[in-house]
Amino acid sequence: METEIYHADTIKEAARKIQAGELVAFPTETVYGLGADATNEAAVKKVYAAKGRPSDNPLIVHVADVETVEKYAQPLSDKTRLLMKTFWPGPLTIILNLKPKALSKSVTGGLATAAFRNPRNDATLDLIRQAGVPIVGPSANTSGKPSPTKAKHVYHDLHGKIAGILDDGPTQIGVESTVIDMSGEIPSILRPGGISEEQLTSVIGTVQSDHHKVGKDEIPKAPGMKYKHYAPNAQVLIVRERQWQAAMQWAAQRTERVGIMTTAQVKADYPLPSNGEWYSLGTDVATASRHLFAGLRHFDTESEVAYILAQGFDRIGLGEAYMNRLAKSAGQQYFEIPK
Ligand code: TXA
Ligand code: MG
Repeated sequence: METEIYHADTIKEAARKIQAGELVAFPTETVYGLGADATNEAAVKKVYAAKGRPSDNPLIVHVADVETVEKYAQPLSDKTRLLMKTFWPGPLTIILNLKPKALSKSVTGGLATAAFRNPRNDATLDLIRQAGVPIVGPSANTSGKPSPTKAKHVYHDLHGKIAGILDDGPTQIGVESTVIDMSGEIPSILRPGGISEEQLTSVIGTVQSDHHKVGKDEIPKAPGMKYKHYAPNAQVLIVRERQWQAAMQWAAQRTERVGIMTTAQVKADYPLPSNGEWYSLGTDVATASRHLFAGLRHFDTESEVAYILAQGFDRIGLGEAYMNRLAKSAGQQYFEIPK
């Protein structure tokens, strides 16, 4: 299959592919998604096959309006409405109880709930409206690889396997949406993301933060959180703020090439070793989040390194999501000063 590239002026064609049960990758403010008609079970099954995704990991249903959510979900609570009013369209995915048999098992993984999201991207909202159906979409990467923040990342992983990619340039936020579970008594964050815990608390009061609690043998509440994720070929090591000098010295002693992902400030403060290759994370945690996945992919495809030293940030605000993704890509490993 030849994978087509669509733009704002060819959304109609992309919408026709969705209606025909084909897969079209779509841009959002967070990462690119791999889209299929949420009401077409055969189409949804193709998503799992194209990604190599375990079939018990449910998908997010992307909608263009709240009315579509009301069609599938049980009556919305006041807090849920408030979240939608405040953060939609935007990087917040909301888990809700479904009406009986509202969506197929391939969408929900057999759960009585589903994840709904109204992405902040005009081309994609147009695509959903023109297709006339909600669109399921996991991140449009091969399962286990960093999520795609550019159309070329999607093309790299999925060309030949999907009908098309709606290209709207690089995504702005760069890490996925926050997943909040509103199906129980107490709202709880299942995955940190583009909307911070602080932002959520300021609107609906106390929220639990369940993504911290996942132990080795526990089953995480968001099924997707248990799988290997965001892993490039090289070994990623997170570097804490005060360890850059030691980390650069350690890198200089490697015989292999070492990728180094930092802000411009860190690069200015510590000289790079001659076997080091720098990838800029910009100026702060927001730009670092935007560039993280592209940087990890860069070291897989455009340059071969054995290690990637990547800058850690404080786990506050967007730093929570950034560190969650970075820690997964690093298999939780931090750079330690050699004894
Ligand atoms: O920013 C994003 O959310 C991107 C863009 C494309 O929208 N999508 C994305 O999808 O990251 P995905 O499939 O990679 O992650 C969805 C997460 C998974 O961890 C999944 O297990 C969880 O949401 N999830 C989906 N439905 C759920 C449900 N009913 N209950 C609990 N967790 C659910
Ligand atoms: Mg994903």
